[in-house]
Amino acid sequence: MSALTNKRILIGISGGIAAYKTAELARALIKHGAEVRVCMTKAATEFITPLTLQALTGNPVSSELLDPAAEAAMGHIELARWADLIMIAPATADLIARLANGHADDLLSTICLATETPIHLAPAMNRLMWSNAATQDNCKTLSQRGYTLHGPAEGEQACGEIGAGRMLEAQDLADLVISVFDKSIFNQSIAKLPLSGKTVLITAGPTREAIDPVRYITNRSSGKMGYAIAAAAQALGATVQLVSGPVSLEAPDGVERSFIESAAQMHDKTMALANDADIFIATAAVADYSPAQVAEQKIKKDSKGQNSNQELSLKLQTNKDILSDVSHAFPRLFSVGFAAETENLIENALGKLKRKNLNMIVANQVGENKGFDRDTNQIEILWQDGQLSLPEQDKKTLAIELMTTITEHFIASSTLTSK
Ligand code: PMT
Repeated sequence: MSALTNKRILIGISGGIAAYKTAELARALIKHGAEVRVCMTKAATEFITPLTLQALTGNPVSSELLDPAAEAAMGHIELARWADLIMIAPATADLIARLANGHADDLLSTICLATETPIHLAPAMNRLMWSNAATQDNCKTLSQRGYTLHGPAEGEQACGEIGAGRMLEAQDLADLVISVFDKSIFNQSIAKLPLSGKTVLITAGPTREAIDPVRYITNRSSGKMGYAIAAAAQALGATVQLVSGPVSLEAPDGVERSFIESAAQMHDKTMALANDADIFIATAAVADYSPAQVAEQKIKKDSKGQNSNQELSLKLQTNKDILSDVSHAFPRLFSVGFAAETENLIENALGKLKRKNLNMIVANQVGENKGFDRDTNQIEILWQDGQLSLPEQDKKTLAIELMTTITEHFIASSTLTSK
């Protein structure tokens, strides 16, 4: 059986030059077993003919909102109900703006308003149109409402400019659709992504604890694990709030990121966001200690610059425990911690599971070439009466498996508490 057997995909096409890539997308989805229908905006028909797509998919192409012939066969409500997934590629700046504002002035926007089916968008436009605050705000609005955005990619554009705005390649989009249906959890609930309407709050990266205006204490966290979890939570339909220490990573598309520096700032920001969250995942490597006093001026080696062997003592104070404070202050939250350990991995992690009042803990062996600042990781997921071991693999793949496990347990715990 192919990956998309029995899956019904509605491809929406709006009017951009990348519309030509959609023929290849339709072909790839059909090759993997999907039944494909196409809905085009009027502008899209200027870039690729409905006849081409009709010939490729074997189905009539819909484009008119008020078309008596189409209404008799498959009207907009039926089409909206028919699909297991809607992929709009390309999604132009104009279409994104109309969707964000709830317009229903053509068939494609009306279908989007009249469906409960997950909608995926592959934006494509000039780089300045993409970076424009209006487009960015519209994308944020849509992802908060449960739309999933893919791309755009960076590179040379049809207009000759270079930057972010190119539509992802057709094969990449087809792979994304396959990956959506691949995850067993999606098969249980295709009509609605399992975390849609839920908010996941994630801490990621290191913190910096100032010693003086130019020096600080920090650790080796790159943020890769936390950012991969943010992307996975978003793919499962959640609104994601990411509280991040200083890292050099791009925030995943559609994820709301708050940058902080110190553990105290991360504590305040996370506590402020926790009230609106449903799941809290603490991947950040928060400094346990910070200098009791921050020098106002740069600390000199010595006042005369002569005694190079001079010792300097720093008095450190314990930082507040963000994870513990959040889970105790908001007991209805499904709280997940990480335990970064160099020894007694399981024993120490179970201690944190209990002490920090958690639903789940991810035991992470760290040390030389393990855990921190690498592309791969290996984890043990522990909860009160169970355990799951995930082998060493790419952090992005690992994050999808971890997020799927968290979601299954979260749904089970919500079902129990609502009984
Ligand atoms: O960022 P990467 O380079 O990808 O690396 C990923 C990682 C190794 C940092 C990550 O996988 C990980 O293990 N994160 C937890 C790091 C940590 O601080 O562990 P801990 O055992 O010291 O803390 C236990 C838990 O309490 C953690 O969830 C931590 O976020 C939280 N904590 C700790 C101290 C504190 N003051 N506040 C907290 O919230």
